[in-house]
Amino acid sequence: MANILLTLAEEVGKTTGTHFAVRYAVDENDCFDFAAGLKALGHNVFFVNWRDLDLENEPDPKKVQFSRMFDYQNSCFVKPLALSDFALVFVYKMEGFYFDLPRFFAMVSTFEKNIPVVVNDPVTIRHNIDKSYLFQLLDRGVSVGHPYTVEEAVKQRLKQNLPCVIKPLFGERGNKVLLAKSVDDLKEIEGGESEFIAQEYMPEIRDGEKSLAYLGFDFQHAVVKRPNAQNSDEFRCNESLGGTVAIYEPTAEELEYCQDLLKVYESFGCPIHFSRVDFVTTSGGPKLVEVELLNPSVYANYSNKGQQFGASIAKYFDSLIRVKEKV
Ligand SMILES: Nc1ncnc2c1ncn2[C@@H]1O[C@H](COP(=O)(O)OP(=O)(O)O)[C@@H](O)[C@H]1O
Ligand SMILES: [Mg+2]
Repeated sequence: MANILLTLAEEVGKTTGTHFAVRYAVDENDCFDFAAGLKALGHNVFFVNWRDLDLENEPDPKKVQFSRMFDYQNSCFVKPLALSDFALVFVYKMEGFYFDLPRFFAMVSTFEKNIPVVVNDPVTIRHNIDKSYLFQLLDRGVSVGHPYTVEEAVKQRLKQNLPCVIKPLFGERGNKVLLAKSVDDLKEIEGGESEFIAQEYMPEIRDGEKSLAYLGFDFQHAVVKRPNAQNSDEFRCNESLGGTVAIYEPTAEELEYCQDLLKVYESFGCPIHFSRVDFVTTSGGPKLVEVELLNPSVYANYSNKGQQFGASIAKYFDSLIRVKEKV
């Protein structure tokens, strides 16, 4: 039996003494199934809001603590346990962390110093947070929507009026992701070009982006996400932008593609644990939009797999703890 910590994006005003409210109902409610699965294996689960970690006031990383902690088993707030009391921390959701990356990295490092198992692996988190990994995958022969620096995209695509998607190197939920059809469309990011990556625009996105969820190298379930059908200019599938989600059954080719891709990613020195691979289907087969190895939303409840996936992730975490204990 172990203590397990989960970071959640808290809907602060809605939390009560007996309920820890989460912000993103669609994806984040899965956390209650994760917790139920872990509890069923005999583990104690605690929820925290990443804002409550005392990083600013406690200089000694070994002494940093959360100021609030919710005990899932007993549905109440408790005197926070020390980080060193935990066997595993799941870096799951952190509201606004892309706007405060130094603090996010400080939190991950603090976890690493105090808690034996951090999921996803900190090495993978630090690598995957920067969409430059698309260049590395391309170099290794993986089928990816062709990435460019913004400068190269101007020369090789936009001057010929070939459309590109421009996205922040560090970003999520479709924030600041734009479609550029000509050089003029880059005005929006003028001066900040180095903070963005360009990718060939893949028109197949209108048929949807397939998202396959993995634990380790084992496929779990899949969804297909489609952009808002009411708005023909909207190409982003993110649910926060009106995108829709439906259950999807991947083909053998797609399963092989995703597994190969994860193996290549692992070869960068990045352990693979909890992942989601997002791709479109082109006439030449799957092509990557992004691979989310930091803290993917995997739409388990959406896929009617809430409980099942909760049990699977619990078993997976349990095995990670056992492996660590043996070392
Ligand atoms: N190269 C592309 N071609 C077509 N659509 C894209 C491309 N890149 C991103 N998109 C669309 O924009 C959305 C957000 O981009 P994504 O790379 O997934 O970044 P984020 O991390 O913000 O989700 C995707 O879900 C997809 O709908
Ligand atoms: Mg995405």
